[in-house]
Amino acid sequence: MLNLPRTIEWINGKVRLINQLELPHKLEYIETDDWLRLVETIRKMEIRGAPAIGVAAAFSMALAAQRIKARALNEALNELAKCAEVIKATRPTAVNLAWAVDRVLTAARTATSLDELKEKTLEAALKVQQMDEEANRKIGELGEKLIDDGDTVMTVCNAGSLATSYYGTATAPIYLAHERGKRVSVIALETRPYLQGARLTAWELSRAGINVKVITDNAIGIVLQKHHIDLIITGADRITRKGYVANKVGTYPLALLAKEHSVPFYVAAPTSTFDLSIETGEEIPIEERPSDEVVYIFGRRITPEGVEAIYYAFDVTPPKLISGIITEKGIIYPPYEKSIRHLFSV
Ligand code: MRU
Repeated sequence: MLNLPRTIEWINGKVRLINQLELPHKLEYIETDDWLRLVETIRKMEIRGAPAIGVAAAFSMALAAQRIKARALNEALNELAKCAEVIKATRPTAVNLAWAVDRVLTAARTATSLDELKEKTLEAALKVQQMDEEANRKIGELGEKLIDDGDTVMTVCNAGSLATSYYGTATAPIYLAHERGKRVSVIALETRPYLQGARLTAWELSRAGINVKVITDNAIGIVLQKHHIDLIITGADRITRKGYVANKVGTYPLALLAKEHSVPFYVAAPTSTFDLSIETGEEIPIEERPSDEVVYIFGRRITPEGVEAIYYAFDVTPPKLISGIITEKGIIYPPYEKSIRHLFSV
C-alpha cells in the first residue's frame, strides 16, 4: 500500500473526497450526500483526472438514486436518466465519466423495485471504483517492467493516485517499480494553469518517497537536451480506436519532442478510457475552459484588460508518436488499430 490517502470514498451514505484545489498546502476533505454538490466538485475541478471523475460521476448517480422523488419505477428511471445527462455535461473530454454514468444507469434499469434501484446503483458505482483500482494496480505491474533501476521518468499533469481510485495510471508503474526496490526519479511538468504537475504529482510522489522535480511546461526542450530521460509516461482522457490520445494540453508537444530526442513515449490508461465509437482525433470533444483561469494567477490578472486567452484543456497526440499504451489487459504497440481491436476482442 502507498502512503497516500484515498481520493474519493463512499462512507455511510456520503461521499468524501480530497479537495484537490487546496493541495499541496492543505489536505482538506469535502463530504456530501447531495448529488448536485458532487457534480459541482467535478465542474469546479475539486476532483479531477479521468478515472476519478468517472468514480465521482458514478457516486453522483448513486446519491441521486437515494433521493429520488418518483414513486413509480419507470418515473424513477426517467428521473435518473435526467440526472445522468446533467452529470455527463460537466466535463466532455474524459470518456470515463460517460462510461461510468452509463454503467450505473444500465444497472439501475435491471431493478424491479425502487429499493432495488437504490441498491443496484450503489453496487454499480462501487464496482466502477473497484475496477479502476484493480486496473491501475495491473497497469503498474505491467508497466514497471519498462522501468530499470536508476531510471528517470517524465510525466505531465497528474495521472496519479489523486486522478484515480488509487495508484494512478501514469504513476502506477513508478509506484510499483519503487515498491519493488528500483530507484526511480521523476520529472513532472508543472501544467499550467491548474498546476496539477507542480501541486498534485509532486505532492503525491514526494509523499510516497519518490524523488521528484518540477519543470515549467516550456522547459521540456532544454530538459530533454540536457538531462537523460529514460521514459515518458502520460495518462489519457480518451483514446480512439485508431490510437489517437486526448490528454492534458501540452502532451502533444511533449510527444513531438520525445520523438526528436528518441525518448520512448508511453501512455497509461485503463480500458475504460478507450472510446471505440470514434476513429480520429478530430472527433474527440476538446474541453475549452474560461479564459480567466489562464489570465489570472492567484487572483491577479497577468494580461492587460481586454486580452483574453485561447484555452483548450486537452490536446490530441497522434498514434505515430506513441511507443506503447499500457492497459490493465497488456501493453499494446503499433499498429494501434489492430492492437486495440485485439485488446477488446479477448
Ligand atoms: O483537467 P484534468 O486535471 O482532469 O486533466 C487530467 C489529465 O489530463 C490526466 O492526465 C488524465 O485525466 C489521466 S488521469 C489518470
